[in-house]
Amino acid sequence: MCGIVAATAARNIVPVLIEGLTRLEYRGYDSAGLALLNPTLTRLRSVGRVAELAAQADGQVAHHGIAHTRWATHGVPSERNAHPHVSVGLAVVHNGIIENYAELKQELRAAGYAFTSDTDTEVIAHLIQETLKASADLFQAVQRATARLIGAYAIAVLREGDETLVVARHGAPLLLGLGEDGNYAASDASALLQVTRRMIYLEDGDVAELRRDAIRIVGAGGTAVNIPEQRPVHESTLSADDVELGEYTHYMQKEIFEQPQALAATLELIGGAQAISPNLFGVAAPEMLNSVRSVLILACGTSYHSGLVARYWIEQLAGIPCSVEIASEYRYRVSVPNPEQLVVAISQSGETADTLASVKHAKAQGMGRTLAICNVPESAIVRECALRFLTRAGPEIGVASTKAFTTQLAALFLLAVTLAKSAGRLGPEQESIQLKALRHLPVAVQKVLALEPEIKAWAERFADKHHALFLGRGHHYPIALEGALKLKEISYIHAEGYPAGELKHGPLALVDKDMPVISIAPNDTLLEKLKSNLKEVAARGGELYVFADADSAVDAEPGVHILRLPEHYGLLSPVLHVVPLQLLSYHVALVKGTDVDKPRNLAKSVTVE
Ligand code: M6R
Repeated sequence: MCGIVAATAARNIVPVLIEGLTRLEYRGYDSAGLALLNPTLTRLRSVGRVAELAAQADGQVAHHGIAHTRWATHGVPSERNAHPHVSVGLAVVHNGIIENYAELKQELRAAGYAFTSDTDTEVIAHLIQETLKASADLFQAVQRATARLIGAYAIAVLREGDETLVVARHGAPLLLGLGEDGNYAASDASALLQVTRRMIYLEDGDVAELRRDAIRIVGAGGTAVNIPEQRPVHESTLSADDVELGEYTHYMQKEIFEQPQALAATLELIGGAQAISPNLFGVAAPEMLNSVRSVLILACGTSYHSGLVARYWIEQLAGIPCSVEIASEYRYRVSVPNPEQLVVAISQSGETADTLASVKHAKAQGMGRTLAICNVPESAIVRECALRFLTRAGPEIGVASTKAFTTQLAALFLLAVTLAKSAGRLGPEQESIQLKALRHLPVAVQKVLALEPEIKAWAERFADKHHALFLGRGHHYPIALEGALKLKEISYIHAEGYPAGELKHGPLALVDKDMPVISIAPNDTLLEKLKSNLKEVAARGGELYVFADADSAVDAEPGVHILRLPEHYGLLSPVLHVVPLQLLSYHVALVKGTDVDKPRNLAKSVTVE
């Protein structure tokens, strides 16, 4: 979603702002803008790509500025709604949603302020301006103004004639970068790697003042925060290569092909051990996990699908009931809290607003045993949970999640094994067999990636289709859901994932020659049942595309196309079977010419409701 970059430094910060926005492009946006002090306020905005803003900013020199990519919430994507928003010499950029903006707008209108946009952000600019009437101190004005905001925000503010930048966060990500020649702020670390690796993650309620040579932070209670005692300085381990495309055309392509190494890096956490310890999930894990008798998984999108796979593993291996809920539903429904339950939040970004709120909701109901499975250290969800497992997928830039999913699955399998051991259901020999299978995954995934040429040929046949159906059974049903999500989000083909046994209860009515049916057919106990379901499709003239195992007894025939994965992988088979579906979506999107990494209307990190 929206991206923020702010800088105050001895160098010309205009290229820093532009490069920072470029690095944040992956988050999803529809317009961009910046405000500079040189020495009066210059505001530049553009609808479209950061490159257009860069062209406008060419030749500008400044030492003090804020910049923004906007993903529209209040008001259409347009120049007048693009950030920064100004109020007499003061400019604000904002990520998040201000829920009480309508009341504040009314109040500010009555006080004489005129609004030139449809955004909630403009309210913040005028509110700070109004607050400055009582005291000319910008820092205090931001503190007082933000105290009146209801909702989520990360903001950066500058004012003509002021040496400082003021930033604040509540419910939306923001970090500070400590540079050699100045100080910076941004929505995520990738925007600031160009100038520094030393980062401070702000917490909810923090307001920070940035000067070229100093920073200060005041926390939610209004008391000064000690640096580094209370807000440690982290040395980012991201390398420039991690966020570069290198030899690839798209980030999604790069990230699909990085999966063997992402899995290997994640599995380094268990080394060559024959047995694992609950400590993998944090120091408090042995005690917390030992007595767990049920699990509740909370997540959104692709992360929700990894939770659905984990339910099969946890119930089968550990014999513990596991429910999986879409975070945006769980946070608002009346549920029955169980303080003994383990709550697992799964998130690539660690900043998804609904997932974060669902964890807070669970905690508020007395459910304190919380575990984050996340790809971003120091993210809000990681900090909110008592336990953590950090996947090592590296930065995922493409909006369509790929390597985050397979590494989440590896983490969740480790959790299932850990819970199975605590429940006394997994002996040392079985544990060692499961860990061996897990360690072989990078090699197995590499072999699946070699199927790309055949998948590419299939993709050509999808380009003129408007709908597609994905079928799976058992722990491959979530993989059917994930395949459908991938296809719809990047190729804009309407796709549904169904448990194959459910076909005759409704979706079979849709099947005809124009509706490709993609099926996952591993050689497991449900294969014969699945084959009957496929016959039902073929009998109605449906075209079948089947991803089978090497030894699945299914044969190609007219209208039934088969691609075989190199090996059958038992419980971990979903990790392999999702890969061809990722490749299929990627190649269909290429054929259709869509914007693979930044599909329309979507954002990478969904930091608003
Ligand atoms: O960062 P998260 O894992 O919490 O994100 C959750 C979803 O927004 C995300 O998985 C989304 O569904 C992806 N675009 C799917 O490819």
